[in-house]
Amino acid sequence: MVKLTKVVGVVYKANMKEETFQPTDFKLECTTVWSFPQRGDWATHNSSFRGNWAPQISRNIILRYSKEKDIVLDQMVGSGTTAIECKLLNRNFIGIDINPEMINITKKAIDFESQSNAKIMINIGDARKLESIKDESIDLIATHPPYVDIIKYSNGKIDGDLSNIHDIDEFCNEMLKIAKECFGKEIPNTPMMGALVKVTKFLDINGVLEDTTKKLQKKFLHKPEIIDGNIKSIKRAYDEISG
Ligand SMILES: C[S@@+](CC[C@H](N)C(=O)[O-])C[C@H]1O[C@@H](n2cnc3c(N)ncnc32)[C@H](O)[C@@H]1O
Repeated sequence: MVKLTKVVGVVYKANMKEETFQPTDFKLECTTVWSFPQRGDWATHNSSFRGNWAPQISRNIILRYSKEKDIVLDQMVGSGTTAIECKLLNRNFIGIDINPEMINITKKAIDFESQSNAKIMINIGDARKLESIKDESIDLIATHPPYVDIIKYSNGKIDGDLSNIHDIDEFCNEMLKIAKECFGKEIPNTPMMGALVKVTKFLDINGVLEDTTKKLQKKFLHKPEIIDGNIKSIKRAYDEISG
């Protein structure tokens, strides 16, 4: 492992200070519509990977919904955007992907020296079967599913890769399995929950809101604004999706 500093484009130079790995012009989003025409390229983020998150997305989610040393899960980790941000922001991290190539890309992306003590674990796995992760053991889920088969991450070669699925109903059924795996894991990606409850019609929205409120109260007892914000975001995503 080397200590890296970005000097230009995707060229890195050893033995410089880590502070230069942090973004210089990042600010937290304050509305629900996020747009990043200028994609962040700090640290080892690499926009040439097709269909990855702009790092501003994972940084916003992590800063808004977790604190240092929390455990963040991204069970469709892809090129490792969430992993890089967790390392930079001192969150412990579990990254999973069904595609070994993504695991290799992510491991390389997090191979930089950091002052944070974040523990980063990256493993091959199926987001529909997270038996190895205990319920209530995760503080935040920040994940980003495939775009049905618009981007084929394994070109049909890996069984269980949801990016091989063309049919929307079939895709939603498989996504539902992933959502169900999230529900026991403390605090899922709340807008995704609202949207999935609507699309799949599998769960009752009021039950989901009640259950999520109870879970958030355990963690954010003295921060009602966080509970309120998450509940609103579930409702908003639910209302915005036409059923
Ligand atoms: C949109 S990409 C994630 C991109 C990631 N946020 C990033 O910034 O690089 C979706 C990922 O889901 C993975 N995937 C597809 N089906 C999966 C499954 N059943 N279990 C785990 N990962 C899966 C794909 O291999 C792909 O890496």
